[in-house]
Amino acid sequence: MEIRPLKLKDAEKVRELEIKLIREYFATAIKNKWEELPQEWRDGLGASSRGRFKAYLDGGLCFVAEEDGEIYGFIFAQMLHHVADSDNMLWIENMGVHPYARRNAIGYRLLREALRKGREMGADVAHSMIQPDNAPSIMLHKKIGFFMDRREVALMDLKDPKLRL
Ligand SMILES: CC(C)(COP(=O)(O)OP(=O)(O)OC[C@H]1O[C@@H](n2cnc3c(N)ncnc32)[C@H](O)[C@@H]1OP(=O)(O)O)[C@@H](O)C(=O)NCCC(=O)NCCS
Repeated sequence: MEIRPLKLKDAEKVRELEIKLIREYFATAIKNKWEELPQEWRDGLGASSRGRFKAYLDGGLCFVAEEDGEIYGFIFAQMLHHVADSDNMLWIENMGVHPYARRNAIGYRLLREALRKGREMGADVAHSMIQPDNAPSIMLHKKIGFFMDRREVALMDLKDPKLRL
C-alpha cells in the first residue's frame, strides 16, 4: 500500500470513499435515510466536495493510500493561521480507511504523513475533530501521540432561517 500526496486524478475515487464513510457514520448517528436527505446537502458534505477539494489539494497536506490504482484511505488536512494560540495549526478535517482495509496501519500511516508534512511546513500544533463515541479514531490518535482534554466544540448554523441574532 502506497501512501502518497493527493492528486487531481483522485477526485472521483476519493469522493466515492469519503461519501461511503459519511454514510456509514450517518447510519449509526442519524435517523433519516440517506436517500431522504436533500441532494444539494449531500453534495456539500465532506472535504472532497466540489467546492472544497481544490483548496485541500492546493494546500499540499492531504494524502491517500493507494494500491493497484484503487484508493483505500485518505486524509484531508490544511494549515490554519492565528487560531487557538497558534500561528500555524495543522487542522485535520477528515480521514478514513475503506472498511475492508482497516486495521492494517493505513490510518496510522496517513495521519503520520500529514503530521510530518504539517511540521515540515511550519505547523506548531495539530488539531483533529473526533466524535467522543468513535473508539477506533480515539485509539488511533492516542497511539500516534495526541492528547485529549475536555474540550468540546459548540456549533451554530448561521444559515438557519429561524436564527435570530
Ligand atoms: C479510524 C480509522 C481511520 C482507523 O483506520 P485504520 O487504518 O483501521 O487504523 P490503523 O490500522 O492504522 O490502526 C492504528 C491504531 O488505531 C487503533 N485502532 C484502529 N481501529 C481500532 C478499532 N476498531 N478498535 C480499537 N482500536 C483501533 C489501534 O490502536 C491501532 O493500532 P494497533 O492496530 O496496533 O492496535 C478507520 O477505522 C475509519 O476509517 N473509520 C471510519 C471513519 C472515521 O471514523 N474517521 C475518523 C474521523 S476523525
